[in-house]
Amino acid sequence: MSHFAYRNETLHAEGVSLDRIAAQFGTPCYVYSRSALESAYRAYDEALVHRDHLICYAVKANSNIAVLSVLAKLGSGFDIVSGGELARVLAAGGDPHKIVFSGVGKTVEEIRTALDAGILCFNVESEDELARVNRIAGEMRRVAPVSLRVNPDVDAKTHPYIATGLKDNKFGIPFSAALPLYKQAAGMKHLRVVGIDCHIGSQLTEIPPFIAALQKLLDLVDRLATAGIEILHIDVGGGLGIRYRDETPPPIAEYIRALTTCMGDRKQTIMFEPGRSLVGNTGVLLSRVEHLKHGADRNFAVIDAAMNDLIRPALYDAWHDIQAVAPRRTPTRRYEIVGPICESGDFLGRDRDLSLTEGDLIAIMSAGAYGMTMSSNYNTRPRAAEVMVSGNEMHLIRERENVAQLFSSERLLP
Ligand code: LLP
Repeated sequence: MSHFAYRNETLHAEGVSLDRIAAQFGTPCYVYSRSALESAYRAYDEALVHRDHLICYAVKANSNIAVLSVLAKLGSGFDIVSGGELARVLAAGGDPHKIVFSGVGKTVEEIRTALDAGILCFNVESEDELARVNRIAGEMRRVAPVSLRVNPDVDAKTHPYIATGLKDNKFGIPFSAALPLYKQAAGMKHLRVVGIDCHIGSQLTEIPPFIAALQKLLDLVDRLATAGIEILHIDVGGGLGIRYRDETPPPIAEYIRALTTCMGDRKQTIMFEPGRSLVGNTGVLLSRVEHLKHGADRNFAVIDAAMNDLIRPALYDAWHDIQAVAPRRTPTRRYEIVGPICESGDFLGRDRDLSLTEGDLIAIMSAGAYGMTMSSNYNTRPRAAEVMVSGNEMHLIRERENVAQLFSSERLLP
């Protein structure tokens, strides 16, 4: 069942029509479906019932504390990449013992705070970081649980900006350097080696690159065992894609089956760091048409959402479906769907056939992942409101920013 569907010719999120949400909370506005989120999480969890597993939601995809708390209540863990994300997870009631900390640039302060919180492990990305974590743990009289993020050098076949598992990328420890570094880690006084980790990229729509990466990891796990280093968990990262247009990513259960089959009868806990596949199709960006400009060559629909609200089309040339909330029966025209920002890159969709009138509401679909979290205040535009629908109820989960807030921390010269 789709959680966003037409009823009485109006697009709804679960039981609530999007025009009601716009009337109550204004536009632009992100709208999420709680049941879509829960279904996506359960698809992972249920496919993994027969295995020791932990799903660590990649907070960067959508970090609203309401989203995090829905997942925490289902038992989810979290993959964080900053002290800010750690604070959000804790504020949302997330279990610190289910947090993994990824990222190439963890600061001293962030490492301290995470150790203090008692996270499950640091996914360490360099020799330098390993030494830093050991030193800080020593100062705090703690033992830091660590996992090495290994770069398996496989081609994820995705957009170059979001491929992370090639040896040219800044991420992870080169495969050939991993074994010696594990040996070094095992000898460090304030570290405890607990796992192995990788993440090869995002919006992957085929299974083979995941399998290639996992096989390399398993190989290494065997060599580590021979060297007397026991690995307790294998974290395969995130990256499973979703359908935006006509992509055909494998269903979650099929992806899990392929990976667990590859694991065979190994006893390690299998861990995942999904972001997009949990939240991407659980949200839309609701916007209103401000102006229509019909020309000889092109028609523009200028809407009240812009690249500052959803940067994916401008940054990755990403395609998001755009639907009228209450479609008209009049003939369509071909539109460039653009925002009010002073850049030609400020488009949300190109060549879209729609029948529009000034004031109409439109929904930019599949905007639940990397939408709000990548938004900015460019052109001094307050960030959108966020609403979560649950059945017939709608809840404001983030107030719209106001202009005064945007420069309240700026100062004039004396
Ligand atoms: N784990 C790590 C270490 C990551 O770096 C990422 C995403 C994930 C997990 C989650 O990946 P996912 O399951 O969401 O594919 N802004 C881009 C996507 C950037 C992904 C960055 N890393 C976009 O809008 O397409």
